[in-house]
Amino acid sequence: MSKFEKEVNRRRTFAIISHPDAGKTTLTEKLLLFGGAIQMAGAVKARKSSRHATSDWMAIEKERGISVTTSVMKFNYRDYEINLLDTPGHQDFSEDTYRVLTAVDSALMVIDSAKGVEAQTEKLMAVCRMRNTPIITFINKLDREGLSPLDLMHDIEDKLQIECAPLSWPIGSGKGFKGVYNIYKKELNLFTPGQEKRGQDIVTITDINDPKLDELLGRQADELREDIELLKGAASPFEYDHYMKGNQTPVFFGSAINNFGVKELLDAFVEMAPCPMPRAAVTSEAQPERQTGLTGMVGTTGTREVSPYEDAFSGFAFKIQANMDPSHRDRIAFVRICSGKFTRGMRVIHHRTGKEIALANATIFMAQDRVHVEEAYPGDIIGIHNHGTIKIGDTFTEKEPLKFTGIPNFAPEHFKRVLLKNPLKVKQLQKGLEQLTEEGAVQVFRPCTSNDYILGAIGALQSDVTMARLKDEYGVDAVYEATGVARARWISSGDKKKLNEFEKDNMSRLAYDSEGNLAFLAPSEWQLNYVIEQWPDINFHKTQEHN
Ligand code: G4P
Repeated sequence: MSKFEKEVNRRRTFAIISHPDAGKTTLTEKLLLFGGAIQMAGAVKARKSSRHATSDWMAIEKERGISVTTSVMKFNYRDYEINLLDTPGHQDFSEDTYRVLTAVDSALMVIDSAKGVEAQTEKLMAVCRMRNTPIITFINKLDREGLSPLDLMHDIEDKLQIECAPLSWPIGSGKGFKGVYNIYKKELNLFTPGQEKRGQDIVTITDINDPKLDELLGRQADELREDIELLKGAASPFEYDHYMKGNQTPVFFGSAINNFGVKELLDAFVEMAPCPMPRAAVTSEAQPERQTGLTGMVGTTGTREVSPYEDAFSGFAFKIQANMDPSHRDRIAFVRICSGKFTRGMRVIHHRTGKEIALANATIFMAQDRVHVEEAYPGDIIGIHNHGTIKIGDTFTEKEPLKFTGIPNFAPEHFKRVLLKNPLKVKQLQKGLEQLTEEGAVQVFRPCTSNDYILGAIGALQSDVTMARLKDEYGVDAVYEATGVARARWISSGDKKKLNEFEKDNMSRLAYDSEGNLAFLAPSEWQLNYVIEQWPDINFHKTQEHN
């Protein structure tokens, strides 16, 4: 095996998905501790407070250092090189989370044992399903009274439509929590509350009838035996292929705050989770003039899977972050490497613009620091400084014209019309909107029949933050009005004549997005459905691939 192949094989790039308060921050910190990235508590916790209020969020975001550093946390564990990608905690930033999830190879789902599956987990899971992302589940807070483990598994199977395969099993819960039994290794991990570092408390037993179990667990030994017997009939055995297809999730139990079960989880994760996987790309000759929606690529002609083991470098930008210092307009584009080796200073083609650029000042994100990167491999995330030339979804390759697919915009649900207080500021407004759109912070629509600027955001907080940033960073003093728009859908049709007819009939409700794609803006869900029914030859898309 070549050095390059080894480097690919030892990489794991993943994100943690959970409902707020399930324990994502706590687990992240413990994982980083195992990786030797210490003193993280401050940074990770500080970022967390972002979800409480807009003002907090703004204050935190201003200290961009924190959010940039914690966007990607790279650490080593055993012989593995791990990239943990942070996802925004607040549900109003679900679009950002989606994009982060396009850059990972697998996910870790954290569930609070007292709450079971919660709303945000369901949403994030739906996103993972779009790409069949393999998921490992960690059921947290076993030191508290919670639902029974079987009920928790049923809940996951029911609400998330994914089969559960328990790889460990808890012994009691809350005050009676004794530890977990590792079903496959036949090991008993005993729990001592408040003990951060576990050492000698792993007991290996010969089989479930080992009398040692009775000595250690008393009455709970028989309960465990019953549970394990029951599981043989009730739970599915772990099957690697099913996990890799996203149909089955291996389940672990523990308590993040007590650092209990975390090492076992991490060990299983590095051994089980996939290394960088191939990615679908469209070769540029075959790119349709305008790609519409996730299903825009029809057939397989002109599309191919790019293997991480290919020699030539390729990667795509999945996140753009404004610079820490707002007086500098440069930004960092986070690029996920999909194939080939990155070396400092290498020249690549930026495919949307067709220009060749030198990746001279790329940054790699260690858990604590940002460092200049000399080399990086598939699965790694590098940060590229630029002055607004890079957009989300842009592909970079050494030579072959490619575009990675599946990094769409989502139709916004909150709309505001921007009215400038000082009309002379229109240039600043345009610049601000252009840059914030490229960052993916907001979407902008220009109606066909007026000169309005309509801001579209996925969540109300995303919209508030955009308005505050327009004022703070671009000096745009504006009033934001209600628009009478409730839904947006990008439109397309195979029938040009019908499309023309539709455009003529609905001109006052049509608008162009910042990439020149035509969208229909509806005043209500009802009205949208009515129009969809009236125009069966027109396709209304909820998502739109970046051009
Ligand atoms: P999040 O990022 O998913 O939102 O959750 P976070 O890790 O911040 O955890 C949410 C709360 O749950 C925190 O308490 C945290 O200490 C607690 N927690 C995490 N893991 C466990 C666990 O294994 N057992 C128990 N009992 N609690 C756990 P908090 O009071 O909100 O915050 P703090 O006072 O600890 O800062």
